[in-house]
Amino acid sequence: MKLFLLLLCLFFFFFFSSGVVAGDRKMGSHRSSSRSTFNVKSFGARANGRSDDSKAFLNAWAAACGSDGSTKLIVPKGTYLVGLMKFRGPCKNGYLKAVEDLSRYGSSDNWIEFREINRLTITGGGTLDGQGAAAWPYNKCPKNFHCKVLPTSVKFVRMTHTVVRGLTSLNSKFFHFAVLQCVNFRAIGIRISAPKDSPNTDGIHIERSSGVTISQATIGTGDDCISIGQGNSHITIHGITCGPGHGISVGSLGRYPNEGDVKGLVVKDCTLTGTANGLRIKTWANSPGASSARNMTFEDIVMNNVANPIIIDQTYCPYASCSSTTPSRVRLSDIKFKNVRGTSSTPVAVSLDCSPGVPCRNVHLNDVHLDFSGGSPAKSACDNIHASYSGTQIPPPCA
Ligand SMILES: *[C@@H]1O[C@H](CO)[C@@H](O)[C@H](O)[C@H]1NC(C)=O
Repeated sequence: MKLFLLLLCLFFFFFFSSGVVAGDRKMGSHRSSSRSTFNVKSFGARANGRSDDSKAFLNAWAAACGSDGSTKLIVPKGTYLVGLMKFRGPCKNGYLKAVEDLSRYGSSDNWIEFREINRLTITGGGTLDGQGAAAWPYNKCPKNFHCKVLPTSVKFVRMTHTVVRGLTSLNSKFFHFAVLQCVNFRAIGIRISAPKDSPNTDGIHIERSSGVTISQATIGTGDDCISIGQGNSHITIHGITCGPGHGISVGSLGRYPNEGDVKGLVVKDCTLTGTANGLRIKTWANSPGASSARNMTFEDIVMNNVANPIIIDQTYCPYASCSSTTPSRVRLSDIKFKNVRGTSSTPVAVSLDCSPGVPCRNVHLNDVHLDFSGGSPAKSACDNIHASYSGTQIPPPCA
């Protein structure tokens, strides 16, 4: 069995530092003081895309991992053929810091990328510090549709059978983790932290993947704790603690033509606290494509003072410039909310705002109990939907 890791045009740095994390803007430039450098090429990596470089990677990793002080593992530009890779910890001082200077990332929109590896396992803990505070002022995405995105801390691309266990991500410049075109991906016990007001710092973004399980994660960040984008199937999210953040979101869907469908999503046993949304499905108004999202179940969810605990929004358009005259063409169907309890910080606890072009079909709510923490009774709002209901319903269903 041949396994591939292709690091194409990649030049990334791992910084291990047991010292202070904060603001050394010149990291990696002239300060060679106590930093040891481990270059995979010095460990025998050939980077010709044909001979197996696994041993060199693992030896370089082991040396960097076992070294005291500030450590840098360098993977120079090139194509590396590697086999079964387990970057195993615990490292002596597993603290990875991202370079702050954005020009060092060139046109790359990620810091660390794992691509096309079969059976990669990352264990042993460790912390990835994206040092995002210096980059956030350069993020134009909240205002500009055609923004250049900042680097995502860790991107997994076209991976198969991946396990990531116990990793911590702090203050990413953009997303903390992105899982793209992966098959059979499991993340267990991940911790994510960034300030509540940090822009586009989604915790885990999943797109065009199938067979993804995210469990026992603790996520507090400035955007969605978990976002499930287009083209995903068989996604299971359970045991997540979310907040602050924008909640657990499906979408936004329908921004681009030719998006894939979302199907087979289960979100279970999650607790959301103080988030700007709870369980959200959002699709763009004016969507160019006609994709669908179906067979999605949200169950056993606790909401603590969450704004918009249950929300379907098919008129999503965060920019002043987009015209929302054409309804969303993304079809939503077969959606269940079961046993969703707790408090809403806004009076409308359940908002089901579907597209007038393609009304939502087969949406069922079972045992929903959400009280408005402001005192007056919580309310429901609905548009272009005939939902069905069973069990407890607080707020009462739309008339
Ligand atoms: C719905 O999704 C679940 C979870 O992925 C899956 O087990 C089930 O087979 C799907 N049902 C249909 C009708 O596709």
